[in-house]
Amino acid sequence: MTETFEPQILAYCCKFCAYAAADLAGSMRLSYPGNIKVIQIPCTGRVDAIHLMKALEDGADGVYVAGCLEGECHFLTGNLRAKKRVNYVKDIISKIGLEPERVEMFNLSSAMGPRFAEIAAEMTERVKKLGPSPVGMKRQIRAAL
Ligand code: FES
Repeated sequence: MTETFEPQILAYCCKFCAYAAADLAGSMRLSYPGNIKVIQIPCTGRVDAIHLMKALEDGADGVYVAGCLEGECHFLTGNLRAKKRVNYVKDIISKIGLEPERVEMFNLSSAMGPRFAEIAAEMTERVKKLGPSPVGMKRQIRAAL
């Protein structure tokens, strides 16, 4: 029997948009993969590069940040700062041999419940194609020894 890979993906979601969109997706009874673990944050501007790197180090196969639409951040530029940090982390991980596609930034509004579900499915499919993160696998091997 072959084991199917089910990725673990962490999503940092701004409470004003993506988290509310996740709620809406639930109210609309939209289904999306259960691989996504949502973490509510006050604004994506609070997400630092270390949070993304630590998620990968701790075994996540993918991680993304979902914030308000550009120009609509409640703290003005939080989502723009998050975008820069996501791009910075993409750059760093690609230099150490990890696929930058494992990290992503999305922008959506609280009314975009279907888009939230779409993003969750998109990231799950993307990470499934990439396969398990070698960082997480190394960690599992170390723990088993
Ligand atoms: Fe939503 Fe800043 S308040 S990203």
